[in-house]
Amino acid sequence: MKLNNLLITALVISYLFVGCGKGKKPVETKKEISEINVEEGFKAEKMAKELWNKIQSENYWVNWKTWPGKEAFYKGREPHGALLTTYVNDAVLKTIINKKGQMPTGAIIITENYMPDKTLDSITVMHKIEGFNPKINDWFWVKFGPDGKIATAEKYGQTLMLTGKVATCIECHGGQSANDYIFTSLLREEVSEVKKVEKEIFDAEKIANGLWDKMKNENYQKKWKMWPGKEAFYEGKEPHGAFLITYVNAAAHEAIVKIKEKMPAGAIIIKENYMHDKNIASITVMYKMEGFNPDAFDWFWAKFAPSGKVLTEEKDGKIIKLAGKVAGCIECHGKQTSNDYIFTSPLKLEHTLP
Ligand code: HEC
Ligand code: HEC
Repeated sequence: MKLNNLLITALVISYLFVGCGKGKKPVETKKEISEINVEEGFKAEKMAKELWNKIQSENYWVNWKTWPGKEAFYKGREPHGALLTTYVNDAVLKTIINKKGQMPTGAIIITENYMPDKTLDSITVMHKIEGFNPKINDWFWVKFGPDGKIATAEKYGQTLMLTGKVATCIECHGGQSANDYIFTSLLREEVSEVKKVEKEIFDAEKIANGLWDKMKNENYQKKWKMWPGKEAFYEGKEPHGAFLITYVNAAAHEAIVKIKEKMPAGAIIIKENYMHDKNIASITVMYKMEGFNPDAFDWFWAKFAPSGKVLTEEKDGKIIKLAGKVAGCIECHGKQTSNDYIFTSPLKLEHTLP
């Protein structure tokens, strides 16, 4: 009897290894069940029993909270009950309320599945156990009968114990992998497009401020080299200054002199823009930040006042901060895509400038 149980549990686990692809053949013979699987199945049964004892001893139906926003006997979806009551332990409750995005180790979610007449049909539980199944965020799955017996299912003519790495649970909940395999509610803040853009602008200003501090800390006017071949106060073109001084950090300098054709991540180009009277008007910077904007060669753009304040511009009645993915800079410098968005000199030997 015991051995039979073991084999059955082991089969549940084997199905998982076989994969969830529909066209795939199930485990063919019991011979294919390795001892490891048998042992794992035995463990999963033991874990289920321990879990049952734990939740019973905690009297979860009085001491635990129901899923925030879900009262007792809310309407359920297939394949769960017609009516559901879902209880969560403290760890889960905090995660949901604080929109933490991912359940912590120790999380336990208990869904009681009821028939339309409110008789209890089964209890399905998800329990996060560190290291149990890292591929699916360590969820342990189990379905109990109302009496605490581990439920079984018939598949391919076999009786399967629904505990551990239960393939059917995982296949369906797998559609929610971006939400830590959870259906009931979204675990993270829903970010609207407007909010996303606002956050991007906010972050861009922070990056720009950090960039300015870095420029000052590195004392670029003294410690960095000027663009090779360009002396101080060379004549500039619109929309930049009448006179320019362009500084490059070591990474950018090396790319120019060694004809690397493209600036590496970390390259910084600082152009000081001077008026006709050689008073400084602004400082425009290009900073190559890996992953920042792959659509435009990862350049971060910024225009500073001589004080270091990020400058703004009015466009269509809106104030635009000149930091980050600044459309105006990108549009014009975009004429130079074949030269890594750079105007001052060709990075490739064969490149000609307009
Ligand atoms: C065919 C899809 C499907 C299968 C199979 C499935 N579930 Fe679910 N499960 C759901 C859906 C949908 C919900 C949301 C219930 C609702 O609000 O109606 C859910 C909710 C849950 C919850 C509450 C937490 C959450 O994810 O929102 C638990 C716990 C749970 N299921 C456990 C299990 C277990 C254990 C198994 C396997 C024995 C299983 N489920 C099989 C679809 C499925
Ligand atoms: C209308 C076209 C145009 C716009 C808009 C523009 N630039 Fe430029 N930029 C140039 C030209 C042309 C040069 C070459 C220097 C020169 O002759 O003035 C240049 C040079 C530079 C350089 C030196 C590296 C290089 O590409 O040669 C930096 C840094 C720079 N611009 C930053 C910016 C930033 C930041 C913005 C947006 C705030 C911006 N630029 C907007 C045309 C433009």
